[in-house]
Amino acid sequence: MTDVARPRGLTWGKRTFLAFALVVAVSVSSAALVALIVGPPLFHEHLLELDRPQGTAEMAHIEQAFFDAGVRSLGAGLAVALALATVLVWWETRRLRRPLDELTSAARRLGSGDYQARVPIGTAGPEFDAVGEAFNSMAGRLDATEENRRRLLSDVAHELRTPLSTLTAELEAIGDGLIPWDHESHDLLVQQAARLQRIANDLNDVSHAEEGRFQLDRRPVPVAELVHQAVATFRPRYAAKGVELTADSERCVVVADPQRVGQIMENLLENALRHTPAGGMVKVDAQSARGEVTISVTDTGDGLTGDQLDRVFDRFYRTDTSRARDVGGSGIGLTISRSLAQAHGGSLTATSPGPGRGSTFILVLPSPA
Ligand SMILES: Nc1ncnc2c1ncn2[C@@H]1O[C@H](COP(=O)(O)OP(=O)(O)O)[C@@H](O)[C@H]1O
Ligand SMILES: [Mg+2]
Repeated sequence: MTDVARPRGLTWGKRTFLAFALVVAVSVSSAALVALIVGPPLFHEHLLELDRPQGTAEMAHIEQAFFDAGVRSLGAGLAVALALATVLVWWETRRLRRPLDELTSAARRLGSGDYQARVPIGTAGPEFDAVGEAFNSMAGRLDATEENRRRLLSDVAHELRTPLSTLTAELEAIGDGLIPWDHESHDLLVQQAARLQRIANDLNDVSHAEEGRFQLDRRPVPVAELVHQAVATFRPRYAAKGVELTADSERCVVVADPQRVGQIMENLLENALRHTPAGGMVKVDAQSARGEVTISVTDTGDGLTGDQLDRVFDRFYRTDTSRARDVGGSGIGLTISRSLAQAHGGSLTATSPGPGRGSTFILVLPSPA
């Protein structure tokens, strides 16, 4: 049974019971009163119609007998009706009170941090079900948000631990004179500090992404311009690594936040560069069809397995943790990119023929009619 602290004064259950009981009592008393007022005179009139001498002891006895029998049978009948009605009323108020108690109890548990609290549905009629369903859906959302918050915090703590422990160990070793303060140790410290910086920068975006709220400054932009800008930024780094970068864009326009789309493109081009060995190729292709613009980034690099394809958009997921931890990002670029695409009403997906056979990331954005 649910543990609900009773409010002060009469509870709803008792008030409802008393109200029903009063109705039953009033009905029974009025039925009895009417029977007593109307019955004997009517019977007397019937007796008068008989062609018998009036005012005799026999007649008085007949009238008394009618009155007694009437009072007794009516009294017994009404007492039984009263008892049955009371039981029914008690049972009904109890039945109606239970979902209210359950709702109160679940709301209290939810308020005290138990996000698993739910109310049973289908026990007390459609109106109570509707309230219960609304409550359960609210509790479900709170539960998911709370779970997300907990996972985010533990992921963040996990992410911070590696660079922090590397920094601490390195600093201690230098302090103890175990390793010299030279270029190599300096570079390592700078690298780990940069990694912490990157995580801090990404965190702001990831929390917005988790809640799906980005401030978008949307306007019509030629897709070719977006593609050109992103490609131009990366050209020197691609050339330095020896990876060929080509771009092909149809003449079309999207209504989008150019900075945010630029952020998606940069993440895709950065990933493609990181995962494509020298001599490989990366191709950006933008096309428009059926009210959508599709921008794809295809590389001839590492590729992805089916399992990895499902997970690359997960927060902090990297396929190659050991290498990516030092040279790569924090594994949330694609999480943020996908949320940004969705905030635009579009999508970001990945395909790959398999490991070592390259991959394609496809950004779809709605374009004006
Ligand atoms: N073009 C690609 N080819 C192969 N793997 C990729 C590619 N792009 C992304 N990935 C995988 O997806 C992971 C997540 O990417 P992302 O969220 O951008 O994180 P980050 O770039 O910080 O590692 C990467 O660590 C990598 O393992
Ligand atoms: Mg990335």
